[in-house]
Amino acid sequence: MGSDHVPPVGSMAAMRPIPPDSPASHPPDWWRSAVIYQIYPRSFADGNGDGIGDLAGIRSRLPYLADLGVDAVWISPWYPSPMKDAGYDVSDYRGIDPAFGTLAEGEALITETHRLGLRILLDIVPNHTSDQHPWFQQALSAGPGSAERDRYIFRDGRGPGGDQPPNDWISQFGGPAWTRVTEPDGRPGQWYLRLYAPEQPDLNWQNSQVRAEFEAILRFWFDRGVDGFRIDVAHGLAKADGLPDRGDLPWPLPPVLEDAGAHSVADEDDVHPHWDRAAVHEIYRTWRKIADSYPDRRVFVAEAWVNRPHRLARYVRSDELHTAFNFDFLNTPWRAHLLHRTIDRTVAALGRVGAPPTWVLSNHDVVREVSRLARPQPDQPGRLWLEDLLPLPADYELGTRRARAAVLLMLALPGGAYIYQGEELGLPEVEDLPDGARQDPVFEQTGRKRRGRDGSRVPLPWSGDRPPYGFSPAGATRPPWLPQPADWADLTVAAQDDQAGSMLALYRQALRIRADLPALGDGGMRWRESPVGTLVFAREPGFCCLANVSADPVAVPEASTPILGSGPLTSDGRVPADTTVWLSLAA
Ligand code: NOJ
Ligand code: CA
Repeated sequence: MGSDHVPPVGSMAAMRPIPPDSPASHPPDWWRSAVIYQIYPRSFADGNGDGIGDLAGIRSRLPYLADLGVDAVWISPWYPSPMKDAGYDVSDYRGIDPAFGTLAEGEALITETHRLGLRILLDIVPNHTSDQHPWFQQALSAGPGSAERDRYIFRDGRGPGGDQPPNDWISQFGGPAWTRVTEPDGRPGQWYLRLYAPEQPDLNWQNSQVRAEFEAILRFWFDRGVDGFRIDVAHGLAKADGLPDRGDLPWPLPPVLEDAGAHSVADEDDVHPHWDRAAVHEIYRTWRKIADSYPDRRVFVAEAWVNRPHRLARYVRSDELHTAFNFDFLNTPWRAHLLHRTIDRTVAALGRVGAPPTWVLSNHDVVREVSRLARPQPDQPGRLWLEDLLPLPADYELGTRRARAAVLLMLALPGGAYIYQGEELGLPEVEDLPDGARQDPVFEQTGRKRRGRDGSRVPLPWSGDRPPYGFSPAGATRPPWLPQPADWADLTVAAQDDQAGSMLALYRQALRIRADLPALGDGGMRWRESPVGTLVFAREPGFCCLANVSADPVAVPEASTPILGSGPLTSDGRVPADTTVWLSLAA
């Protein structure tokens, strides 16, 4: 290859579109390579102008998603909900929240999505319901020892008068994981477990009615054509008998055992009293049978925050779930040796069970990657909260350059990938939301110590030069439910649409090429020797990816021709720092 720049994004001939209903667009193992786009319905598009995204908004933007080139959408919960945790507190699993639309609109959306050649996954929330779910209301009025209470996890308190929580478990949102109820006779009574907000009581998965109900809910939506589910808190459904104290056990577990080599996967079975316990797997085996009973086989993706890929692999054994989010990748700093290690561990662990890896950079629970990557990168992998990042100097241009490089790396790796809405626009985290606007229960539940996740949930900018940036239609009656920044005019879909070199153009280009190249998606990869600070791997036939995570430019491999770059090459044809190139290799 000479000293030419990588062809600018957008200059390549359009790839051949696959007609929506051709068999090629629906291979039975489509999920092994799929790129799935997460729609967070409150923040995607507002059809009726009340400031909240809705199904009419999603429907109007489906062509945008088809054009983007994703294979499927996953819609975060759309069910009726008091919205104490933005819909992850479900009060009716068979309906649609009136703020979003109606069941008929949901059915039309499923049909329309299919018509455009896309699959559609919903989000199922089996660990907990809303406290307004009829079952929980029945449990409250039926009293201690009742069959109604057995669907949840009620216990007497400890200490004199039972006024201490039954154990030391803590809520993911801060504070104790237990709430005390007032019994029907007006006296302070039992406590119920809720690993998240007080309005999200945990279900008891040892109760057969709970199991039967969720199996029926799966069927309800499968019968309406839904192609699969993302399973919320998939690692949390089973709790240890007797609900023993957790003590100071950290989560995830420290890597000591594994790194010392004295480790077997079973060593970590049932270590934690409520995360990643062996008993969850039996539930998913049953669910898999239900999915497989449909002729066109429906699929699952697990949201399981577990202890690295060797544990994740257990969720995707051949008779369990199909895929699982690879949060280890998301939690890996932009450092070559750490990325290399995460990729190796992932590919090896999932390969052992025959499951495809998946890759994810972002979702509605984490700080957006532009803002993470804008900061100096830590030495170790781990979840970064906004509070961790705010004290660090931020260079958003650098963050954007790295985010571009990261997505080309991600889309070149074997298996499938997840894209969170707005990622394709290069949106940064909104780090300075006014406290009064914050909605995430994490904020109040931590005594305002953690700001929470609202900064990644700000409504999308579609067009125009000021809020609501086309998120709501002209004449909207309310502003967007979270305020949008004043400086997002250049990040709108309209602004990036025809702009060669925009983040949106890069995503479109990369997804088209990915769909067209047999080397990409499911399959193997082979590392090639490369300078320190770079990741270079080949995929058959004839593809090579080079990510330069070092501070200096590096040469491209011999006999390679650039297909796409996350940024221009240097004038002497090398790949600059924080840049990824896709290359085709001479046979
Ligand atoms: C994971 C979801 O992604 C998150 O948004 C939610 O708060 C918790 N599960 C509880 O459902
Ligand atoms: Ca609306």
